This record gives sequence, C-alpha cells and structure tokens, in this order.
Amino acid sequence: MRVLVTGGAGYIGSHTLVELLGQAHEVCVLDSFANAKPVVLDRVRSLTNGKISLVTGDVRDGSVLDDTMSDFAPDAVIHFAGLKAVGESSRQPVDYYDVNVSGTLALLRAMDRHGCKRIIFSSSATVYGEPEYLPYDEAHPTNPLSVYGRTKLMAEHVLTDWAAATPGASAVLLRYFNPVGAHASARMGEDPADYPNNLMPFIAQVAVGKRAQLQVFGDDYDTDDGTGERDYIHVVDLARAHVAALDHAAAISGARVFNIGTGQSYSVLQMVTAFRAASGHPIPLAIAPRRAGDIARMQADSTRARNELGWQATHSLDDMAASAWAWQRGNPDGYGD
Ligand code: NAD
Ligand code: WQD
Repeated sequence: MRVLVTGGAGYIGSHTLVELLGQAHEVCVLDSFANAKPVVLDRVRSLTNGKISLVTGDVRDGSVLDDTMSDFAPDAVIHFAGLKAVGESSRQPVDYYDVNVSGTLALLRAMDRHGCKRIIFSSSATVYGEPEYLPYDEAHPTNPLSVYGRTKLMAEHVLTDWAAATPGASAVLLRYFNPVGAHASARMGEDPADYPNNLMPFIAQVAVGKRAQLQVFGDDYDTDDGTGERDYIHVVDLARAHVAALDHAAAISGARVFNIGTGQSYSVLQMVTAFRAASGHPIPLAIAPRRAGDIARMQADSTRARNELGWQATHSLDDMAASAWAWQRGNPDGYGD
C-alpha cells in the first residue's frame, strides 16, 4: 500500500516506518518537525534501505495536504501528528484542540478531496479516565481527565462520524497504553525535547547520569506496592499494530476502536527494578507527592485486537528496559542537535 504517515518522524511514527518498509509498503512522511528531527529519517533509511518521501509541513495546512495527496496518491493515512504533553495541554488548550482536532479535520477534508478512504488514528488509553472496572475493554465509558485526553476523544468522534457518513470509508482508532522502549538496533528511540514528562525516559536519563534521581509520584495508591501501575507496551509491538490495522482498514467499513496494550501492568518500582537490572545502575529515587491527574492503575484488555487484528504484544518488560537502556547509552543526547 501507499501510506501517508503524518508525524512519521516522531517516536512512534519512526518505529512504524521501519515496520511498514519491512512489509514493502511505500511511505510518505508529512511532519512539521515541531517535536522531531530530520536525522530520524536517515536512521530509518539506513536500517531498512527503504525509500521515504518527505514533506515538511503542517497537517493543518490544506494546500500542503493537497499537494502531498496529488503527488503521492495514498491508499491510506496513518495519523500520528499531534501534541501529546498532558501538563502543557492544560496551559495551552487552544493549541491542543487546534493541532489535534483541527489537524484531523483538515486531513479528512483533504482525504475527501482526493478520494482516500482509510485512516489509522493514534488515540490513547487516557480517553477512559478513572476506571469503573479493570482491565479496560473498548466498551468502558470514556471520561478523559485532561485537555489532551479530550482532544483525542473529540478526534475519535470526528473520525467515527466521518467513517459512518462516507461510503466505503474506514477508520481504525488505536488506543495506545504506555509506549516505551526502542528499536533493537539502538539507533532509534524516544528523544524528549527537554524535561521528560514520562517515567521511562526519565529513568533512562538518571541511569545515563543526566538527572540525579527519579521522583516517584506517590507511594500511597491502592496498588500492591503503593506506586502507580501502568500497562507498558514496547514501541516495536505498537508499531506492528499499525501494520495490522492497515490490513484491517482495507477489510472493514466504518470506524473500529482497539486497545493496544499487553494486558499486564507494572508499578513504578517494578519499572525501576527492571531498569536497574538492564543498566546495572542504582537509579536513586525519592518518594514525592502524587502528580495531579494521575490514577492508581491502568490495564488493557486487548482481546479485540488479538481476535480482529491478529495482533498481540510479544516483547517483555525486560525487552522494554534493555532496549530503552541500549538506546540511551548509545545516544546520551538522543538524536543530537
Ligand atoms: P511525537 O511527538 O514523538 O510525534 C509526533 C510527531 O508529530 C512529531 O514528529 C511532530 O514533529 C509531529 N507534529 C506535531 N505537530 C504537527 C503538526 N501540526 N503538523 C505536522 N506534524 C506535526 O509523539 P509520539 O509519542 O510519537 O506520539 C504519536 C501520536 O501518538 C500522537 O498523536 C500522540 O498523541 C499519540 N499517543 C502517544 C502516546 C505516548 O505516550 N507516546 C500515547 C498515546 C497516544
Ligand atoms: C507512568 C507512571 C506516574 C514520571 C502519559 C499520558 C498518556 C499517554 C502516556 C500520550 C505514573 C509515574 C512518572 C516520573 C513517576 N501519553 N511517574 N515519576 O501518566 O500513565 O501516561 O503518557 O498519549 O496520555 O497521560 O505515563 O510515564 O508519565 O507515568 O513516578 O518522573 O509513572 O505517576 O504512575 P502516564 P507516565
């Protein structure tokens, strides 16, 4: 297939490019480089010997989208481009609605103009909010606790309504749990622009000596060891879910939502233990107050993805920690300047 990948230079997008090229799909990346560096694509090319067309531009820009779709004529779009920092989203809500919702609308309008009828969308388990039961299945009520989460849920609604109203159209909405880890080559991985918001890159920066200690946000949750539990998913497993979703989008009409997780949850302290084992570094830590908006535990029921996409995660917690450490050790400054 010819696949237009918005946000393809980002953390999840770049790993997905490797999997797409490995399956002989043709790819075109549209990225503004708001949160990525062009060198990422050189790494993807060198790992795959694949050809990547690149358009540097904004997903909200209809004329860029028109030119891209005229030249590349995609069979399907994978839509990663978006803003993703939960804390920032409450300080800059209009930016988040604009990029995440208006960006999706602009993309759908361009797809309509060019007759492209398949889209895979990066949604998030954060759309569920406080669990009424666990593991979350796709029927769990949605009630996101952040502006970011609301932009993702709103984009899901837009895509669902578009797919219902457009003959022959399909939208696969992937609700990712917590993506971590890096490519096995250690040439690609997560490269936070400044202060890492997420647990795994923070631990990795402590291990490599860039930060003195980890702050553990709360040890009084109702979990086995009192620290927050999440369903961490290796980024390569997540990337492969997109390849499976492309095939699925070709086979269905309308919208379908899928949880993409492992079904296993690990606490902050279990993540630290795994990273200590992978890196041999002590990872000093201190218990800090709870972080606003955090919940105790999240866990995916990914039965639907297994049954309908034929996808399931294969990487273990040790794989996640070892690959994240190999990437961080080999690239202490990420992709550099
Ligand atoms: P990322 O920031 O690494 O990738 C996003 C990419 O989109 C970047 O390359 C960035 O330059 C690009 N981009 C941003 N705004 C753009 C715009 N207006 N026009 C064109 N390109 C633009 O993030 P990621 O972790 O790879 O996440 C990819 C997607 O998955 C995002 O939509 C995110 O919300 C979603 N998601 C991420 C996580 C996570 O924890 N990483 C979890 C659930 C969902
Ligand atoms: C994991 C656990 C923290 C940092 C976020 C977004 C979600 C999705 C994935 C985009 C929690 C604890 C963290 C630290 C800590 N992103 N922690 N010290 O919050 O589950 O999910 O990223 O779509 O929408 O909300 O992930 O990695 O920030 O936190 O103790 O320095 O680690 O409290 O229990 P989270 P996280």
